[in-house]
Amino acid sequence: DIFATAEKGAKWVAHEIANLIKEKAEKNDPCVLGLATGATPLGVYAELVRMHKEEGLSFKNVITFNLDEYYPMNNKSAQSYNYYMDDVLFNHIDIPRDQINVPDGEVSKEGIFNYCSEYEAKIDSFGGLDMQILGIGRTGHIGFNEPGSQLDSKTRLIMLDALTRRDAAKDFNGLNKVPKAAITMGVGTIFKAKRVILMAWGEGKAPIVKKALEEGQSDSVPASYLQRHSDVQFVLDVPSANEL
Ligand code: GLP
Repeated sequence: DIFATAEKGAKWVAHEIANLIKEKAEKNDPCVLGLATGATPLGVYAELVRMHKEEGLSFKNVITFNLDEYYPMNNKSAQSYNYYMDDVLFNHIDIPRDQINVPDGEVSKEGIFNYCSEYEAKIDSFGGLDMQILGIGRTGHIGFNEPGSQLDSKTRLIMLDALTRRDAAKDFNGLNKVPKAAITMGVGTIFKAKRVILMAWGEGKAPIVKKALEEGQSDSVPASYLQRHSDVQFVLDVPSANEL
């Protein structure tokens, strides 16, 4: 779906999420959401916060799992995805704290393997995610599933691609301060979501959007695997769609 502006696309995605939350609440069911970070979903979170404040949208039945976190990372530092999520969403809505799951950037090196399997098992205990929202990195990553990630990959520690680290350097005041690794849900974890929405805004994303949608599926562009998911939508603005 191509929208005239990123703002319009983000609002549409926020309304899809709100509808799902309400649908589940009517049946007294939990709504299990997979959430993303980066600049791309900011408009979605702003609209959800607005709907909470102005329209009384409640998040009491919502359980969230974030895609990824840098590693190692102090969860309280401004560059962490834990901080980002509190700042742009969780601090402004009525979601119970114990229903929020963001990978822990402070887990010990020795504990990380078990930590990742527990994160995966917790998602499975809800029967997978009801909906996963995604951005896309210029390497074609979803979450931090860099090129080389396999379709059946699970939550794990991954080394970041050089291009991803260069793109992150502005947030960290220099490339040498960007963590070298991250904890990320796998492509397989994302695939267990019943519905997937990938958003991309701006002409900088146009080449990778074209590769993800129009070239063959391969681990060199992990987002291309989404072509075989049974319920996936790409939500684009005009500039990100202009090479299609
Ligand atoms: C980051 C995140 C991804 C995100 C992507 C794009 O590194 N790990 O989840 O989708 O890169 O970021 P942005 O939305 O800022 O363009």
